[in-house]
Amino acid sequence: MLDQYVRLLKNGEIVAFPTETVYGLGADAWNAEAIRKVFAQKGRPADNPLIVHINAISMAHRFARKIPDEAQTLMEHFWPGPLTLILQKEPTVLDLITAGMPTVALRYPRNPLAQRLIAKAGPLVAPSANSSGRPSPTRPKHIYDDFGPNFPVIDGGSTDIGLESTVLDVTSSPYKVYRPGKVSRSEIHQIINTKVTMASPQQGASKSPGTKYTHYTPDAKVRWLKEKEKPLNPKTLYLLHSFSPADNFHHIIHYAGDYNQMARELYDRFRQADYDGYQTVAVEPFPPEQVNPMIPALKNRINKAIGR
Ligand code: TXA
Ligand code: MG
Repeated sequence: MLDQYVRLLKNGEIVAFPTETVYGLGADAWNAEAIRKVFAQKGRPADNPLIVHINAISMAHRFARKIPDEAQTLMEHFWPGPLTLILQKEPTVLDLITAGMPTVALRYPRNPLAQRLIAKAGPLVAPSANSSGRPSPTRPKHIYDDFGPNFPVIDGGSTDIGLESTVLDVTSSPYKVYRPGKVSRSEIHQIINTKVTMASPQQGASKSPGTKYTHYTPDAKVRWLKEKEKPLNPKTLYLLHSFSPADNFHHIIHYAGDYNQMARELYDRFRQADYDGYQTVAVEPFPPEQVNPMIPALKNRINKAIGR
């Protein structure tokens, strides 16, 4: 089943494939022409670097040099899985991938289809397989909507996590998270016992250019639910997680504290809001006392969709 896609990739074409986070738009990491097609297909600014996807920890050394011991420990603990590490790049890594920066982003995905694809086609650069600025795809339909019905997509159903990987810079001191994801800061801290901070927007904009762009936005306006606001407007899609309305309504989605489910569905709900003609998506805010590893990632994506 994978062979036709492997052939496409080896011929310098681009192919969408599932990972445990979101679908990626893959291209041969050693083929500059193929990588240019990724930027063109997405309408992605050239200053936004790509993640290289590998299928073995040992492969990291082909792309990164000076891998700190802590980074090695993190790879052994979290890979394969939703953690992307920013490391010093080997000089052979194409500048197209890294947007001319001295660092490279590496990730070893957990999804078995992704692993088999990389095993056969070699390391792949893969941004999320959406048009730039749109919500990342969590199922094939999202990709067909952005890229057309004939686009080559390896169908792995709906993705497990639904939000993109945690991006952690281990070249800076303290280590910095540019993008929160399923692997939380405290989990990282527990493994390496090193200080891990959240990058400021300024640090993100200069060191991880993807963070400065508006992202993940449906056409509907996204906003936080106001205090004491009742979910009464049928033209608004309400995404709630703690507040529980008495009745069931089409325009009210309730997650009852299941933040993993909320993360899994968020982008699909955003896109569904557009298909169904909602004008607004209102999301219940997360009070500080709600502690769950998925909340920082959810907040980050929702704020980006709002445009902050
Ligand atoms: O879960 C994911 O990471 C998905 C799946 C497909 O693996 N990929 C993904 O890629 O979300 P993309 O291109 O949509 O987001 C990559 C992020 C961007 O914010 C980019 O700026 C950052 O990683 N990044 C890539 N290379 C970097 C580098 N050398 N230094 C700092 N940030 C980097
Ligand atoms: Mg993306």
